[in-house]
Amino acid sequence: MRNILVIEGGAADESSLASTLTQLDCTPTFVADIAEAKRLGFNGFQLLICDLTLADGLGIELVSQQHSCPVIILSKTKDSASIVEAMRAGVADYIISPFVEADFSAALERVLKKSAAEQTETVSADPQAEPLLGMIGSSESMQTVYSRVRKAAPTRSTILIRGETGTGKELIARAIHDASDRADKPFIAVNCAAIPETLIEAELFGHEKGAFTGAASKRSGLIEAAEGGTLFLDEIGELPSEAQARLLRFIQESEIRRIGSNDAHRVNVRLVAATHRDLKKLTTNGGFRPDLYYRINVVRIDLPSLKQRGNDLLEIAEHLLEKAAIRHEKSGLHLSPEAIQVINNYTWPGNVRELENVIERAAIMCEGLEINTDTLEIDTELNESNHFNAEILTPFTGNYLDLQQPVHAASNETSSRDHMPDPAGELSLEDYFQRFVLENQEHMNETELAKKLGISRKCLWERRQRLAIPRNKTSNKSSD
Ligand SMILES: Nc1ncnc2c1ncn2[C@@H]1O[C@H](COP(=O)(O)OP(=O)(O)OP(=O)(O)O)[C@@H](O)[C@H]1O
Ligand SMILES: [Mg+2]
Repeated sequence: MRNILVIEGGAADESSLASTLTQLDCTPTFVADIAEAKRLGFNGFQLLICDLTLADGLGIELVSQQHSCPVIILSKTKDSASIVEAMRAGVADYIISPFVEADFSAALERVLKKSAAEQTETVSADPQAEPLLGMIGSSESMQTVYSRVRKAAPTRSTILIRGETGTGKELIARAIHDASDRADKPFIAVNCAAIPETLIEAELFGHEKGAFTGAASKRSGLIEAAEGGTLFLDEIGELPSEAQARLLRFIQESEIRRIGSNDAHRVNVRLVAATHRDLKKLTTNGGFRPDLYYRINVVRIDLPSLKQRGNDLLEIAEHLLEKAAIRHEKSGLHLSPEAIQVINNYTWPGNVRELENVIERAAIMCEGLEINTDTLEIDTELNESNHFNAEILTPFTGNYLDLQQPVHAASNETSSRDHMPDPAGELSLEDYFQRFVLENQEHMNETELAKKLGISRKCLWERRQRLAIPRNKTSNKSSD
């Protein structure tokens, strides 16, 4: 008996599909939507059959979940764009309902046979996924990342990378580009949080002469600059809603229209996006368009925090130290046993980037060839509550949000009201931060706020995200 999970949204009659599957020696389990399928989990199933459109998303979203089951889409829709998109997303087959039973049976057997053969192959031929170029680490969680990158890179599928700050999101985006057949074409990286809201659409899509004040001549945008290659949109959760709408059209139709122009033209650009936010959650409070979310979240790659990578931590530290020793001509530079212990015990809220900075500073400051705990200058007492002045802050206090996990009480998606100081309790640093920003952002720009608080602008931005403190548009514009 083969176990089949059917996520049924009305494309076929449930009882006749159940009887067809039973006759084919399969045991079907029916659920009504994606959320229910996730709750149930995918373990123990050999195949997923799902409708193209379900109450809570698109069936193709299930291709990207962490399981090895092939996905067959069942749909009443014959439109070729949907079929092409589903195939690009990596579905095993697309069956139009109502179907001829013999065809359905042939497709099912073919998909199950292929999947069984692939699984035997991966078990015997690829017991360990090799790290991608430029990446150190072979922990189980990173092997999953490497293997997902290798599978997804050669396709045209849109990829969403999620991970805390400094975990290597941009490195992964480049690895995807390099492992694709677009490697010799441009890779354009855009940080949506770094470009002022008022300019981002023009930067991405270009504009005609006179399209807005200051548009003195016509200009092409970054999407066109990436023609034939890959566009990497970092911090996509920060994209303003007008730009989200344009981006959706670009993904759906592979066409863009410059601002101020009526002519659309075709582009051939693959989109890779990254975020440290829970985009799905943002869709529920109007921060992100659900239709755009479903289009982006076709293949998802979750980067673990450095702390979750076991022995990779020391391996990366040693590798960075070797490189720093060469750069600073200090051959033989090494870590003392105590320094190794401190590195192992520290929480690394800024992940690999923070480790890089610590090692670089230690390599420069170190007087002999041994780096001890003092030279490391890691504040071992540092924790979330007194982390206020650190340059790099983690956006989440715990593992970053998994859609299936209950939301952590101090996640970055908690509303600002939830963080309002308890009048009876003590004023924590976070409360102070929030109060200071809310009280002063009317008359201070971002640079002034950051300076007064003794933190960098990046740190201010990250804190705002984590505490969900809205930016004040007027003061913001003058500073950016
Ligand atoms: N596995 C790794 N091995 C070696 N170096 C790494 C690894 N992961 C990340 N790095 C290095 O850490 C630094 C941060 O990586 P990257 O910029 O890709 O992270 P990010 O997630 O995009 O960070 P941010 O959220 O701050 O934009 C880079 O210098 C990168 O080369
Ligand atoms: Mg980045």
